[in-house]
Amino acid sequence: AKKTKKAAPKINYVTVEDYGDSIVSRLREIFAKAQATAYPTAPVFPVVVTETSNPKFGDYQCNSALGLSKLLKTVNINEAPPVVAKKIVAAVEKGDLIKELEVAGPGFINVHLQHDFIGAHVGSILTAGVSSPKITKRKAVVDFSAPNIAKEMHVGHLRSTIIGDSICRLLEFVGFDVARINHVGDWGTQFGMLVAHLQDTFPNYLVETPPIADLQSFYKESKQRFDADKTFKARAYECVVKLQNFDEDIVKGWKLICDVSRADFNRIYQRLDVTIIERGESFYQQRMIDVVAELDAAGVLKTEEGRRLMFPTDCTIPLTVVKSDGGFTYDTSDMATIKHRIFEEKADWLLYVVDAGQSLHLETIYAAARDLGYYTPEEKRVQHIGFGLVLGEDKKKFRTRAGDTVRLTELLDEGVKRSEEKLREKGRHEVLNEAELAAAKEAVAYGCIKYADLSHNRINDYVFSFDRMLDDRGNTAVYLLYCYARIRSIARNAGLTRKDLNEKLAAQNGVIQLKHEAEVRLGKQILKFADTLLLVLDTLLLNTLCEYVYTLSTVYTDFYGFCQVITKDKEGKIESIDYNRLALCEATADTMAACFKILGIRTLEKI
Ligand code: ARG
Repeated sequence: AKKTKKAAPKINYVTVEDYGDSIVSRLREIFAKAQATAYPTAPVFPVVVTETSNPKFGDYQCNSALGLSKLLKTVNINEAPPVVAKKIVAAVEKGDLIKELEVAGPGFINVHLQHDFIGAHVGSILTAGVSSPKITKRKAVVDFSAPNIAKEMHVGHLRSTIIGDSICRLLEFVGFDVARINHVGDWGTQFGMLVAHLQDTFPNYLVETPPIADLQSFYKESKQRFDADKTFKARAYECVVKLQNFDEDIVKGWKLICDVSRADFNRIYQRLDVTIIERGESFYQQRMIDVVAELDAAGVLKTEEGRRLMFPTDCTIPLTVVKSDGGFTYDTSDMATIKHRIFEEKADWLLYVVDAGQSLHLETIYAAARDLGYYTPEEKRVQHIGFGLVLGEDKKKFRTRAGDTVRLTELLDEGVKRSEEKLREKGRHEVLNEAELAAAKEAVAYGCIKYADLSHNRINDYVFSFDRMLDDRGNTAVYLLYCYARIRSIARNAGLTRKDLNEKLAAQNGVIQLKHEAEVRLGKQILKFADTLLLVLDTLLLNTLCEYVYTLSTVYTDFYGFCQVITKDKEGKIESIDYNRLALCEATADTMAACFKILGIRTLEKI
């Protein structure tokens, strides 16, 4: 008989202490209270609140009446959904949030928000800054980037770097304690081969730093010898054993090799504004020995053809924790790693930003850790943050024209070159000084590469196209950066500082008045930032945040088309300033800047 697997109940890992401006949470609370008042004998029923799909139906809607009507039958109340909806509406305490409620269709409750509530929120951004709902602080370990020493850092690592950094930024934004960990591949048999080759090619390496210019070719040379030459192979194995016993001279050679790769990696992180702590596989050597001893003592290991295996519950493949030659594997290092993160780092969230191809490996590690009682899913969020491949415009694996793997340094260089060309095409070099142009070309290039990646659902493969990501009329970082800089220029050209503006608005208690429909729409979109954050914290899908900021910029553009902010006379002298509208502009830019910060995109006041 086939075992039917029950879907695991969804666990909410985000505990909101103070809703702040999360409208969905506030409405949920209001409707929960109303439901309990209207039907005190009914079993507890979850409130369903969503944004409306069509502004005709108001701003938000509560859809509980339909389900509640069914549930009420169990306590002998027979009322159709529209009747239930009406009773709930009658019990709602509107407070300062809700202007109007109406029952529509088969029992939906449409919610219209108070404009002054929205206006007060916009005002608070100007005086107190863009804020997040207060969320219970957690310790998170985010494993991302993780290239391999002596090998090229490739586009897969670029994706991991971009997505991982953005997730860290998101968690830091809401106040988490975040450890950004680079689990570099710096351990294993290939290092014996590399050090043995180093001894032969640079016999002086202990006293003089060898000038390894091209570690890739160095790797290839040593691999060739390893495959062809038996005595070399034997020496390579000897070196691994010595390395794992921390033999001083061998460790020195290993370090030299790591340094070469490390310098390359760091240059890339620097360009992309990524901070990360290196803690590679080598860090876990003693812990691997310990974890294998623990597994052995627990009696969970089986020996097959000299290999020591663990078969975690419900998994299709076993973990190989000791190879037949006695060596450790990727599995062993990840078992030691997860143990370290749980018991030594004491992390609540363990996120692994690794390509989707490694899902089976990671799920097996997690299952083993649960079997060993390291954690339960209720108390810890242990999750593989998978992502698809990077494809070329031909929809095939991303490669150079010659068919080689693309080197990241060259990719970033090309981005900067193309971004500068675009800026010059638009005549920006005539407006910006040299330093501004230099800042702009980098912000645009790196911003576009990151945004192109983050704006796609990470689970899917994504097509890398400079033409598309640098198109200033599409949903791209450069489009958003232009929009942002234009907004900032309004107050600047009017010669108004934030302090001036806030003083002007003090007379109305900092509550921005929203009259024109386009003003109201913009205010509402700004207000949705908090709910977007909560959503993204739950799914860790950054494309939702990209969609939010893109919509914000299009709603803003509509507003700016309809609503005059600054009126000038024929000579171009300022006649009047609409301070409410200027406040909306500034709050939009502040909110965009908060999104850019989370997405890792540098902002430009001028472009
Ligand atoms: N170095 C690995 C690779 O290039 C990624 C490591 C991911 N992290 C982990 N804990 N397994 O594929």
